[in-house]
Amino acid sequence: MNFRSRAQGLQVCLLLLFAIGPNLAEQEVENLSGLSSNPEKNIFAIRENGTTCLMAEFSAKILVPYEVPSSNDVDWNVEEANIQLPRDTDIRGKCWNNESELHLSWLDKSYTLKLFFVKEGQDSTKSSKRNWKMNKVQFLYDLSERTNFKNGARPGKHTATTHHISLMATPAGMSYECEATEKVSLTSTDQKKTVVLFLSEVHIQPFDIQSDFVYSEEYKCLTDQRKQLEEMLPIILGVTLGLAIVIILAVYHIHHKMTSNQVQIPRDRSLYKHMG
Ligand SMILES: *[C@@H]1O[C@H](CO)[C@@H](O)[C@H](O)[C@H]1NC(C)=O
Ligand SMILES: *[C@@H]1O[C@H](CO)[C@@H](O)[C@H](O)[C@H]1NC(C)=O
Repeated sequence: MNFRSRAQGLQVCLLLLFAIGPNLAEQEVENLSGLSSNPEKNIFAIRENGTTCLMAEFSAKILVPYEVPSSNDVDWNVEEANIQLPRDTDIRGKCWNNESELHLSWLDKSYTLKLFFVKEGQDSTKSSKRNWKMNKVQFLYDLSERTNFKNGARPGKHTATTHHISLMATPAGMSYECEATEKVSLTSTDQKKTVVLFLSEVHIQPFDIQSDFVYSEEYKCLTDQRKQLEEMLPIILGVTLGLAIVIILAVYHIHHKMTSNQVQIPRDRSLYKHMG
C-alpha cells in the first residue's frame, strides 16, 4: 500500500465517521423496565437532541414454527418455538418527522424485532384527520440459536415480515394504549411459514411527544374501550335505575297530592257555603 492510498483510506474513514457520528452520538436509550413488576415487560424511552422522541412499553412473545428431522431421518417434523422478548435487549430507535422505527435485538443479535411507524395526513389543514399507525413488523431469527430452537433444527437465518398492515391507528399527538393482547401474523422466508407475534400491555408513542419522558393523552384500543364500557355498564344501569325510581316516586307523589286535592274540593262543603 503506498502513501497515497493510505491517505485516501484515512480520508474515507474520517468521512464515514462524520457521516455516522452525529446520528449515533445524539441518541440515548433509557431503560425504565425496572418500573414494572412484570418481569416480561420492556419499558424504555429513546431520546434525541436532549428530549424524548419515542416512548414504548410492552411485552412480546413470538411463535416460530421450524423443522427438525423426524426419527426416521428422512422426513422433517414441524416444531414451534415460543420466544419471549427479554428485558435484556439492545434497543435502537429512529425518529424522523413522519417515520419512526424500533429495533430490539437480543442473544448476540440472534433475534431482532423491528417495528415501523408512520404518520399520515397533511401537516397544515385538516389537523383532525392526521393519525399515526404501525405499518410494518419484521422479525429476524437464526435457527442455529439453541435457547429456543432444538438441536438438529434445519439451520439458517430467516426474516419474517408482515404484509401491509395498519395497526395501533391513533390520532396524531396521542399515545396508543392496549392492555389486551394483539396478534400480528408474519410470513417467513423459511418456506413461507407463519410466524405470530403477540403484543400485550402496550403503551407506545412514536411521534409528537410534548414533554420529556411523558406520554401524551392515551388513545385506547377497541378491546380496552369495550372492556371499560362493560365495567361501566352496571354502574350506568344502576344510576339510571336509581334516577328512574326517584322520578317515578316524585311523579307518584305529585299525582297523589293532586288527586287527593281534587277529591277534597267537592267534599269540603263549608268552603262552598262560604263562597256562596
Ligand atoms: C436532532 O437534531 C438534528 C440536527 O439538528 C436533526 O436533524 C434531527 O431531526 C433532530 N431530531 C429530532 C428528533 O428532533
Ligand atoms: C433494563 O433494566 C432491567 C430491570 O432493571 C434489567 O433486567 C435489564 O437487563 C436492563 N436491560 C438492559 C439492556 O440493560
